[in-house]
Amino acid sequence: MKLWPGLQNSYVIGVVSLVLVLGSVNVNVKVVGSRVGNELNSIQYPAISCRKHSAVLTDFGGVGDGKTSNTKAFRSAISSLSKYASDGGAQLIVPPGKWLTGPFNLTSHFTLFLQQDAVILASQDESEWPNLPPLPSYGRGRDAPNGRFGSLISGTHLTDVVITGKNGTIDGQGSYWWNKFHKGQLKLTRPYLIEIMYSDQIQISYLTLLNSPTWFVHPIYSSNIIIQGLNIIAPVDSPNTDGINPDSCSNIRIQDCYIVSGDDCIAVKSGWDEYGIRFGRPTQHLIIRKVTCVSPDSAMVALGSEMSGGIEDVRVEDLTAINTQSAIRIKTAIGRGGYVKNIFVRRLILKTMKYVFWITGTYGSHPDPGYDPKALPVVTGINYRDIVATNVTYSARLEGISNDPFTEICISNTSIQVSEQRKKLQWNCTNVAGITSNVTPDPCELLPNKGQFECPFPNDILPIDNVQFKTCNLLY
Ligand SMILES: *[C@@H]1O[C@H](CO)[C@@H](O)[C@H](O)[C@H]1NC(C)=O
Ligand SMILES: *[C@@H]1O[C@H](CO)[C@@H](O)[C@H](O)[C@H]1NC(C)=O
Ligand SMILES: *[C@@H]1O[C@H](CO)[C@@H](O)[C@H](O)[C@H]1NC(C)=O
Ligand SMILES: *[C@@H]1O[C@H](CO)[C@@H](O)[C@H](O)[C@H]1NC(C)=O
Ligand SMILES: *[C@@H]1O[C@H](CO)[C@@H](O)[C@H](O)[C@H]1NC(C)=O
Repeated sequence: MKLWPGLQNSYVIGVVSLVLVLGSVNVNVKVVGSRVGNELNSIQYPAISCRKHSAVLTDFGGVGDGKTSNTKAFRSAISSLSKYASDGGAQLIVPPGKWLTGPFNLTSHFTLFLQQDAVILASQDESEWPNLPPLPSYGRGRDAPNGRFGSLISGTHLTDVVITGKNGTIDGQGSYWWNKFHKGQLKLTRPYLIEIMYSDQIQISYLTLLNSPTWFVHPIYSSNIIIQGLNIIAPVDSPNTDGINPDSCSNIRIQDCYIVSGDDCIAVKSGWDEYGIRFGRPTQHLIIRKVTCVSPDSAMVALGSEMSGGIEDVRVEDLTAINTQSAIRIKTAIGRGGYVKNIFVRRLILKTMKYVFWITGTYGSHPDPGYDPKALPVVTGINYRDIVATNVTYSARLEGISNDPFTEICISNTSIQVSEQRKKLQWNCTNVAGITSNVTPDPCELLPNKGQFECPFPNDILPIDNVQFKTCNLLY
């Protein structure tokens, strides 16, 4: 096993010996890239923290043939590298190859780096997957009441974790799980691809994620999270393959992602009915920016349906949806309690949509009969502006709850071009209140045109937008 503590030193040695070998090279020449007669290479990548120590998966017996299990290699690598948490941290490099593995847990002050053409393949051997209790804010598993499988890549109670690469791939090989789901054979809820719990300072970036068994990226009970430059791809008919689900988290930035999915591209959540109300942890201070979504049967961004801990201060801008059911959808129900408030959306381009605006107060879907029928969700302060939509079937379906209207809905500067398959009732509004400006076709009477104005969008900068990436060096 080779570990390279103090890589800066080995890099310097590499440069010096290169100069000695090629006597004519000027000492001032900056050597970046490969060193003659040695496999030492250098890659630069952006991250919230750089690491002092590095190791390669093959140092721990990894075999990248797509058939050999690397579960032990990943687990022992991360266990060894966890020793460097208080000494500058460590990065584990996954080289080109196909690395089959069961689930493994991350550690603090740690980077998992997937090189270009590195593919992590999730094991389809169910006995490799740990069984975990239900999440406290959900009370039961989504697929099955008893609990859930652990996720392929998990982190719990961590600080400062980076999962990144040069567009390497993590393939969940979800078809095994989708078949079991369709046949009703699951005793526990399917695994997520990546789940980070009770953690702070997380980066997940520059990777391609394929075919998750269910949700792809699930940060929960965590804060200060940057998710950037992910390609997330699943068949558009695969069950519950949500792309990115921030769940009871605060200070999150999601940007520059491309998502094709069988469920919501992004679903913002905060717990389910009485369990979510009791746990009481909202998702707040969330930026979603420059994301492209394809999801014919679901939303580009859903808020809910699990929102019982509250969802507040969400800022969505510069998104594109293509052949997607709806844009920024709110889903809730009697019994959820909680709130969805101060939501700001601007600059959407929508091409081929069933609904531009869709808010549902009768989503149903309860964890058990123990929900409180008096727990009414509060939905207020929902702002949309600068939207161009083409080939749309319905402009809006906005459905509040009787005795619990959804209020302060604002829509401005929105142009909707209705398709050939247009429906007569373009704006179907019940139990909602708000105002509009410069919207075509004409909105419903519950959202009267109030002349010229723009709906608000905050001007202040959230702290997560001030986080700068450092340029990290990786030598291997
Ligand atoms: C990961 O950690 C959780 C607890 O934090 C544990 O239940 C689970 O078994 C661990 N998974 C693996 C693969 O070690
Ligand atoms: C990343 O990889 C995926 C599939 O391997 C590919 O479709 C995509 O174009 C790549 N993106 C970049 C930026 O290289
Ligand atoms: C209206 O929205 C369009 C499309 O986003 C944008 O180009 C235009 O500047 C907006 N108009 C105003 C007055 O903000
Ligand atoms: C318009 O939307 C319909 C589905 O409602 C789709 O079949 C058709 O291909 C779309 N047309 C264009 C030009 O995108
Ligand atoms: C209008 O919306 C209500 C409530 O969502 C629904 O029950 C009704 O079927 C809709 N009407 C039409 C014509 O789509």
